Amino acid sequence: MKKVNIAIVGATGMVGRTFLKVLEERDFPYEKIYCFASKRSAGAKVKCKGVDIEVEELTASSFDRDIDIALFSAGGATSEIYAPIAASKGVIVIDNSSAFRMDEKVPLVVPEVNPEAIWTHQNIIANPNCSTIQAMVALKPLKEAYGLKRVILSTYQAVSGSGVKGVKDLENGLKGDMNPALYAHPIANNCLPHIDVFMDNGYTKEEMKMILETKKILNLPDLKVTATAVRVPVFDSHSESINVELNAPFEIEDVFKLYENDPSIVLQDQVKENIYPMAITAKGTDDVYIGRIRRDFSVDNGLNIWVVADNIRKGAATNAVQIAEVFVNKE
Ligand code: A2P
Repeated sequence: MKKVNIAIVGATGMVGRTFLKVLEERDFPYEKIYCFASKRSAGAKVKCKGVDIEVEELTASSFDRDIDIALFSAGGATSEIYAPIAASKGVIVIDNSSAFRMDEKVPLVVPEVNPEAIWTHQNIIANPNCSTIQAMVALKPLKEAYGLKRVILSTYQAVSGSGVKGVKDLENGLKGDMNPALYAHPIANNCLPHIDVFMDNGYTKEEMKMILETKKILNLPDLKVTATAVRVPVFDSHSESINVELNAPFEIEDVFKLYENDPSIVLQDQVKENIYPMAITAKGTDDVYIGRIRRDFSVDNGLNIWVVADNIRKGAATNAVQIAEVFVNKE
């Protein structure tokens, strides 16, 4: 493996800290690591591989040094300004924000699904939306085996996907505070069919991200996809019900085998023993869990599955680190 110099942008944030944890756990082969955040955090310390790293303020000159790969998770506005600066200096940017995801020149990559897209990059690669990533890992084997006709995505998303403020709203709500700072309504003991802002077409931006990103990653521009994204009072891991109409007929046993033999997936489907994917068991892991596999009898070639993954790890930090690993494993 080639050793590279790496930068983390947004190193003090929820995903940023998880970047550091995942780099350490996977023993990512870096030579030097630089950590950036806003001016507020300059001088703060973060840790990776047992070593303290001083956080620096992100500025236009932050990339005027020997950085090979930068992992960005500091929000779309920061990416919009600084990712092109980094890219213009030869840095490969792996961006966790939505700023460049639908840009035709920017590959949108889930390494288990469309790794070939990486090599079309012009120094910026986008990490998909957290809910999209786990859905893509689940849909790819079905696409290859049977072809996809229509997909209905319904999500049950954890508050950690909204960052520290979302977590605080749930913590405070569980203590009885019914005045959330971030969400439009209390999240404790509630479900909010409202993630990101509402668009003119009645969908939320999160739902439209899932729809558009699915088509791009699967390279199926005409795929029929719809989505409903719901925030639920769970701290970590997103759960999703995925209803699919396949192009070809299938045997349900073959779908079980397909997932059982897929190294990117952990099959958890022994319903008689109450075994199925859950947020609390996916938390802290890098896998995508699939269960509740059953035929949808209401349409031809219909299938229902339940998909769970840790949204901060596989849905964000781990996916970005896996993209970076493709570069270091290239030689
Ligand atoms: P800081 O901690 O200094 O505010 P989260 O999504 O968990 O809220 O984290 C957001 C991350 O993005 C944090 O590391 C935050 O740094 C960083 N960030 C926010 N705004 C900027 C900015 N203008 N420049 C650099 N980093 C930023």
